[in-house]
Amino acid sequence: MVKRKTCIFISGHGSNLKNLIHHSRDKNFPIEISLVISNNKNANGINHAKKYKIPYAFINTKRNDYERKIFLYFKKYRISFICLAGYMKIISKNIISKFKEKIINIHPSLLPKFKGLNTFSRILKNKEKKTGCSVHFVNDKLDNGRIIVKKNFFLNSKDNEKSLKRKTQALEYKAYPEAIIKIFRKY
Ligand code: GRF
Repeated sequence: MVKRKTCIFISGHGSNLKNLIHHSRDKNFPIEISLVISNNKNANGINHAKKYKIPYAFINTKRNDYERKIFLYFKKYRISFICLAGYMKIISKNIISKFKEKIINIHPSLLPKFKGLNTFSRILKNKEKKTGCSVHFVNDKLDNGRIIVKKNFFLNSKDNEKSLKRKTQALEYKAYPEAIIKIFRKY
């Protein structure tokens, strides 16, 4: 099987990156992680790239230069698929249009509910019965592209932001690889 050369974008902890690295080591998993890009020099996720000897880059310059650098890296590592995993910067329209249906993101809510930041506090405030995570294609509107996989759980009266994060992320580690398999099964 020819694996898609994939770039993962991160900004922070990188637990989804770590999970995808583990999955990608399976010969039947459709992607190979060829590059990790972070906008944040202190992102812990970079340590996962280092551990598995995956090339990585920090890119956080102004718009044109930022795109130019990203495209140079994409060319060098022949990137044809992008996964956003906790990337806190908006991806430019130019990159999105060049990678149409080839950029996906994971979001910690049941989209279209609770787009944007601070999802867990808003979910609690809104007294939601159910929450979860969504993997979706990225288009030029925030957290808005077609949904590939959603997973959910029911809240209980003891839930707080910390427990919601823990439960949501446990589902993310299943949803993200499942979405990737689903996308490439089509082709
Ligand atoms: C995840 O919960 C994801 O839903 C959101 O950012 C978080 C990143 O976590 N987009 P990590 O860096 O993968 O641990």
